[in-house]
Amino acid sequence: MKCAIIYSSRYGNGKKCVDVVNEQLKKKGHQVQVINAQEADPKKIPEADLYIFSGASEAFGIAAGIKGYLKNLPSMEGKKFALMSTHRMKKAIALNKMDKLLTSKKKMAKVAAIDFRVEGEVEQGKGLPSDYKNSLREWVEKNL
Ligand SMILES: Cc1cc2nc3c(=O)[nH]c(=O)nc-3n(C[C@H](O)[C@H](O)[C@H](O)COP(=O)(O)O)c2cc1C
Repeated sequence: MKCAIIYSSRYGNGKKCVDVVNEQLKKKGHQVQVINAQEADPKKIPEADLYIFSGASEAFGIAAGIKGYLKNLPSMEGKKFALMSTHRMKKAIALNKMDKLLTSKKKMAKVAAIDFRVEGEVEQGKGLPSDYKNSLREWVEKNL
């Protein structure tokens, strides 16, 4: 399967999750392309069997680094997506908003989602729970 992981990450917490999922998908024999949303044109999104979008909650919404990318995607009707997100507050705001945007507006089909609440040295990219790698590997194995 061809997978495209499209992400934004200000402090690196989300990028760490992307790296684990990338590695695990490749271990399963899938082809993976990792794209930084801030350096990419949504109109040139590559063809893939599964799109994985990853972005944090920011200002009670989707992180600016990926929000514009998602909003400007071309028609993606029926294409499969999975979501990853991190957030400091209790609710996974960005995850829910990305889900809504891609499902309702872009008519994509959700496969799975995972989120982590960060704490501690978040600005150093060290806010993830200690078992995040295993959680992500398990998530990939069970869902993707
Ligand atoms: C400008 C800014 C606004 C934020 N707003 C929220 C928010 O509204 N809700 C929330 O749960 N976390 C918020 N956060 C925390 C981030 O979601 C959290 O630090 C996340 O792990 C950052 O991911 P990253 O390291 O991939 O950039 C905010 C962080 C920043 C920098």
